[in-house]
Amino acid sequence: MNIIIKNIKKLIQVEDNPPLYKAGKEMSQLNTIDDAWLFIKEDKIASYGTMTEKERLEEIEKNGLSTVIDASNKMVMPAFCDSHTHIVYDGSREIEYIDKIKGLSYEEIAKRGGGILNSAKRLHNASEDSLFEQAWQRLEEVMSYGTGAVEIKSGYGLSTEDELKMLRVIKRLKEKSPLRIKSTFLGAHAVPLEYKGRQSEYVDLIIDEMLPLVAEQELADYVDVFCDKGFFTVEETDRILVAAEKYGLIPKIHANELDYSGGVQVGVKHNALSVDHLEYVGDNEIEALRNSKTMPTILPGASFFLGLIYAPARKIIDAGLPLALASDYNPGSSPSGNMQLVLSMGSIKYKMLPEEAINAVTLNSAYAMGLSQELGSITPGKTANLIITKEIPSIEFLPYSFGSNKVESLILNGKIKF
Ligand code: NIG
Ligand code: FE
Repeated sequence: MNIIIKNIKKLIQVEDNPPLYKAGKEMSQLNTIDDAWLFIKEDKIASYGTMTEKERLEEIEKNGLSTVIDASNKMVMPAFCDSHTHIVYDGSREIEYIDKIKGLSYEEIAKRGGGILNSAKRLHNASEDSLFEQAWQRLEEVMSYGTGAVEIKSGYGLSTEDELKMLRVIKRLKEKSPLRIKSTFLGAHAVPLEYKGRQSEYVDLIIDEMLPLVAEQELADYVDVFCDKGFFTVEETDRILVAAEKYGLIPKIHANELDYSGGVQVGVKHNALSVDHLEYVGDNEIEALRNSKTMPTILPGASFFLGLIYAPARKIIDAGLPLALASDYNPGSSPSGNMQLVLSMGSIKYKMLPEEAINAVTLNSAYAMGLSQELGSITPGKTANLIITKEIPSIEFLPYSFGSNKVESLILNGKIKF
């Protein structure tokens, strides 16, 4: 059945010929239409107009049955694209959180066998069905906050068998969920205990054994490396990305969360689709990103939860670069996938204008997961993954009203999810 949404107070992020992403000053431009209607035909956005253009709307109404939704006082916008998550994991890690409260750093917790290695141990003992069920619940939760697309990484396996197991769970989620999902192989998330002191041998294992199987079984769209202090070096990242290139796997890199790690530069060198985290970004990193096609992506949840410094979002945008925001939903550094909170933090902590933050969680984050042709804007021909908000007074209210759920309804692939 087709859908007509009428009396929309504001239709947000309307683009007839959408750019791949918005950068610099363009990020503060957000096209909207007041008092609008939107027509969804099957799973695609078909057309839109203002309520004063009655004839076009009547024409559509004449041409067959549609579900009609009255969106008086409500806004319609593209569903959020969350371009960086780790939502396949077993259980939770709130106990480590107490260590954090007591003052231990993320790296100190990791060195004690906590952190990522703790999740790896749990994942090893969990069945694929249980991992699927747990991740499914998390996907239901993020949909309730308006997410319409999610990138999901492996990286809690850290052995060939368990990395493949994680990626198979992601594949099942892709097949079963109405969300648009992209999958990323992150074997280089941490060095497993058995390889302590033999890190380069673990990198060999990733290159010689894991990558070929991941590629052969078509289990990943992208490849990621945690290129940072205490994790993987620039040289190791380079080796992994060279190997991944042979299989056509494009990089999305964890970079510069803990230090000026060189992660941004090595990512750009390999035409990464995105470099993510970016707490430590200075002039050199910004220069590297200029003239690249790599999307700088900030993960506010991790800085907030770990008490890290905040990435220099203004400096990045004011340098003319694009910026995306994502949740980093994971059990260790950001146990939340609420993209409305991410949007609010974009404004509150990173001084992004509401328009900039909205671009960062829709159009730009769609690009950061390779979906700019399909999602991220209200464009005829794009997939109808849309949010209908509750009654809200203004666009500014979206970041301003932090912590409350402003989503009333979610449409995925032209179907009303709730
Ligand atoms: O993106 N920074 C590296 N990895 C994750 C954290 C994963 C974990 O602690 O389990 C992140 O923050
Ligand atoms: Fe992450």
